[in-house]
Amino acid sequence: MRIILLGAPGTGKGTQAKFITEKYKIPQISTGDMLRESIYSKNKIGKIIKNIIEKGKLVSDQIVCDLIEKRILKKDCINGFILDGFPRTIEQALYLSQKKIKIDYVLDFIMPHESILERISGRRIHVNSGRTYHIKFNPPKIRDQDDITGEALIIRKDDQKESVKKRLEEYKKTHHLLVQYYTSQKKIDNVQYFKIDAMNSFLSIRKKIEKILRNNFCVLQDSNL
Ligand code: AP5
Ligand code: MG
Repeated sequence: MRIILLGAPGTGKGTQAKFITEKYKIPQISTGDMLRESIYSKNKIGKIIKNIIEKGKLVSDQIVCDLIEKRILKKDCINGFILDGFPRTIEQALYLSQKKIKIDYVLDFIMPHESILERISGRRIHVNSGRTYHIKFNPPKIRDQDDITGEALIIRKDDQKESVKKRLEEYKKTHHLLVQYYTSQKKIDNVQYFKIDAMNSFLSIRKKIEKILRNNFCVLQDSNL
């Protein structure tokens, strides 16, 4: 099962990816998390991308495709994976196709942009695990502490208003092209594209995803009979 999560910043991709990972035992591959790890560890890539990410711009296709290539080769991806925040450009989508990485599902998280700021301004993250909280919608048990490790939660640098504005602009430039691309791939490669109403509650989005994956998994099995 190979799944792509598309959607604007703060629409809940990372939150639902954690659920899919637990339920279907496939890893979440978040280019955002990987890039942030590079920044925190101050490695070569981290130094190149720090400013780009903090300003809300996109990192080069070359850097993210290289990260994806290495990550997908790991053993835990053998039964599938969730690409969270990749592809973000047509070039990245074409990269997957050139590498013959077949995609089964594209789940597109849709939400009015006016509501995104509330989601993002209340977000707190645990850097090492990528676990995400929200001060109002999903607060940690103890304020500003990760539920599992007790370590401090932080606010992402790119969650400042100006960076969020830029991130939304970047999203608007490429999202419709990716939708066009993946809806056209249904005939060619049987990619299943679904819109997810990201304004719904955590639980109802989770149920919607379960239903999509369950129904389509049955169809795929039937067609193999
Ligand atoms: P990335 O980390 O991918 O950020 P993003 O796409 O902007 O998405 P977010 O992580 O902000 O939001 P999310 O949809 O995961 O929402 P979440 O679940 O946290 O990328 C960061 C940067 O890295 C990019 O700007 C770019 O610079 C670079 N980058 C990454 N990938 C790249 C690529 N492929 N190419 C080039 N550059 C790339 O939820 C948000 C909040 O809402 C949380 O607090 C959560 O608790 C809460 N919440 C979630 N669901 C609900 C709900 N249903 N109800 C109420 N609250 C909810
Ligand atoms: Mg995320």
